[in-house]
Amino acid sequence: MLAYSIAGMLTTRELIVMAAWYLFEQPALRERFQGGGRDVQFGILDEILRLEPIVAVLARRVVEDIDTPACGHIPAGTLVAIDIRATNLDEAAAGACPHRIDPDRAGGAAAGSGFMSFGDGSHRCPGAQLSLHEARLFLEKLLAVPASSWSRRRGSTGSGRSAAMSCATP
Ligand code: HEM
Repeated sequence: MLAYSIAGMLTTRELIVMAAWYLFEQPALRERFQGGGRDVQFGILDEILRLEPIVAVLARRVVEDIDTPACGHIPAGTLVAIDIRATNLDEAAAGACPHRIDPDRAGGAAAGSGFMSFGDGSHRCPGAQLSLHEARLFLEKLLAVPASSWSRRRGSTGSGRSAAMSCATP
């Protein structure tokens, strides 16, 4: 139970923050999220998670000798780091224009694929659907707050990344 709580809280929080960032920064994407149904919203979250994997690297120990196109021969027992971000941006997996947010990319997945962002195989994240549902509901409610304007309050460094969002209600 503790493992589930720890594994699920920080990651989902990060997803919500990252998705909110994209939605505030990109009005067209925000409108699409607000106007779209469940599938569109899941598709958008899925794409944001593909571009911004919360868990960026997975470690695995190779169980048998393998030959790979990128790294050549890897003997059994080697510990390898799998770059999830690079994997998600691989055109061979993601298709054309991998840096572009395309909610239909995963085939309109109702509860998202996240590509490799939830891992794969027997240890694939069991909380994938829960986290996407939580994020979708939270963001839907957040964006429905009656706000005359969503404005950005610049941080002291003036960089986009440090900007804080503030909601001005009428
Ligand atoms: C955006 C949210 C989340 C992300 C990005 C995420 C990501 C991941 C990834 C990449 C793994 C695979 C780790 C590996 O293969 O070594 C994993 C495993 C796991 N996740 Fe998540 N997770 C999220 C949300 C959640 C939630 C909400 C829960 C629980 C309610 C959860 C529980 C777990 C557990 C228990 C494992 C271990 C599974 C196993 O080893 O068999 N995660 N998660």
